[in-house]
Amino acid sequence: MNAQKPKSASFIKPTSEKIKELEQKNQEALQGGGKARIEKQHEKGKLTARERIDLLLDAGSFEEIGKFVTHRSSDFGLDKQKILGDGVITGYGTIEGRLVYVFSQDFTVFGGSLSETHAEKIVKIMDMAMKNGAPVIGLNDSGGARIQEGVVSLGGYADIFYRNVRSSGVVPQISAIMGPCAGGAVYSPALTDFIFMVEKTSYMFVTGPNVVKTVTQEEVTSEELGGAKTHAMKSGVTHFTSQNEAVCINDIRKLLSYLPSNCEEEPPEIPYELHDETREVLDSILPDNPNHPYEMREVIHGITDENSFMEVQKDYAESIVVGFGRLAGQSIGIVANQPMSFAGVLDTKSSGKAGRFVRFCDAFNIPLLVLVDVPGFLPGTDQEWGGIISQGAKLLYAFSEATVPRITVITRKAYGGAYDVMNSKHIGADMNFAWPTAEIAVMGAQGASEIIFRKEIQEAKDPYGKHQEKIDEYAEKFAHPYHAASRGFVDEVILPRNTRIKLINSFAMLANKVDSIPRKKHGNIPL
Ligand code: HXC
Repeated sequence: MNAQKPKSASFIKPTSEKIKELEQKNQEALQGGGKARIEKQHEKGKLTARERIDLLLDAGSFEEIGKFVTHRSSDFGLDKQKILGDGVITGYGTIEGRLVYVFSQDFTVFGGSLSETHAEKIVKIMDMAMKNGAPVIGLNDSGGARIQEGVVSLGGYADIFYRNVRSSGVVPQISAIMGPCAGGAVYSPALTDFIFMVEKTSYMFVTGPNVVKTVTQEEVTSEELGGAKTHAMKSGVTHFTSQNEAVCINDIRKLLSYLPSNCEEEPPEIPYELHDETREVLDSILPDNPNHPYEMREVIHGITDENSFMEVQKDYAESIVVGFGRLAGQSIGIVANQPMSFAGVLDTKSSGKAGRFVRFCDAFNIPLLVLVDVPGFLPGTDQEWGGIISQGAKLLYAFSEATVPRITVITRKAYGGAYDVMNSKHIGADMNFAWPTAEIAVMGAQGASEIIFRKEIQEAKDPYGKHQEKIDEYAEKFAHPYHAASRGFVDEVILPRNTRIKLINSFAMLANKVDSIPRKKHGNIPL
């Protein structure tokens, strides 16, 4: 019997057609939600998801993952609306040659809303980032949960939240908000290390203006409730704000230059050759009157490499300044009291701001420089009822727990409990310096003499003169760094102009520091 030769099936396409088909699909994926929606996006002053990735990554480095993913829903006619990529572009690439993973939500596709598959794409790159030890950058522009999908969308969010937490302290996580971010969707960015917002085109809130009006009768716009300025100044939710998306993306690239790719790595270093590192300018920043303010940022600029300071949360809790800088090319985290704002006092907000920053630096092996000019904790019912006890404890906890190299320079006041909290020797600082202008005491001479010499002053023939005499007596004893230096609480009293070289040498000396906290499941920071 003759075996019948199978005919070539008519559905088998020639290779050239298959290649064309792939090219067409690739082309289709690039269109997102289509020309009209892309134009609408541009009219709002916003870039598309792909344009953002192009700006963020080194040219030509982006490799997309999951380009052809589509949703699985059929409710509400969704089966007839499948768009390749399903509203988020995911993949990896490089920034200054270093690997990063990125997801970029595409508002032109279902308003960037998060479906089950959209979430799966994000989860996939988050898992890869953990395995391969590289940062995750999320560019958020989304109407929130895909309303047609219901609980599977909520589940998708939770899958992301879970990974945000598991990745915390392992790889840096950065969120940029470039459009709406509302409802529970805000919690993924909130769990990441840094949030960037773009002025006027982005907002974040748990409940929007309509719900606010219904529940509290308050009338508020989206911008007032959750715009970039609000979160920069009032809530502290955002760490950076930018006037447009290009600046925002550039700032993300800059931030990454200070960070290692994961918790096992050291931060990148810029080659640097020592020159004359004396900085005369530091000798003349402090005013003669110890009660007059000065700009601590001038001290920071005087100490760090030129133009290297990148401030974090600059418009929030301004009595403390935090940010990244470089010292002889080495990345450092800086925490500094700011005498220009409430005399540099520690309050509920500034303690939390600085505490979180310290913990980030410690998690990612970034040495800490602490500049101290602190009159104490802010008094008042507002502060006490606002929990200054537990808020202040956050910063104390964060410093005490940190095992990275830690150096303190006391420029002027280091009073009371705040002296202890601000990276004192007693809570594990490695090197403590003081300027000759430093005053290290339980409190200022005026307040102290009023308390301990009250009786003597009251009974004196000339109470005013007596008070002055006692102020001088107390100041002579404590309003200087030499008592602390005699105890070894301060390692050296240094000339301000020599601060930079002292710090360069000390951080170099500490470069191989090995320290660890006692074995435990985890500590219990006062949250
Ligand atoms: C599905 C959505 C969507 C969503 C927007 N779209 N949001 N599709 N699910 N959540 C679609 C719109 O139908 C529209 O489709 C396109 O995206 C653009 O939306 P517009 O409304 O035309 O844009 P705009 O005027 O700029 O307004 C943007 C917006 C608004 C403010 C975000 O779309 C909006 O209010 N959306 C709903 C927001 C929301 O309530 N989300 C759920 C929140 S609860 P076409 O086809 O016309 O282009 C949540 C819980 C998360 O997210 C829980 C986590 C635990």
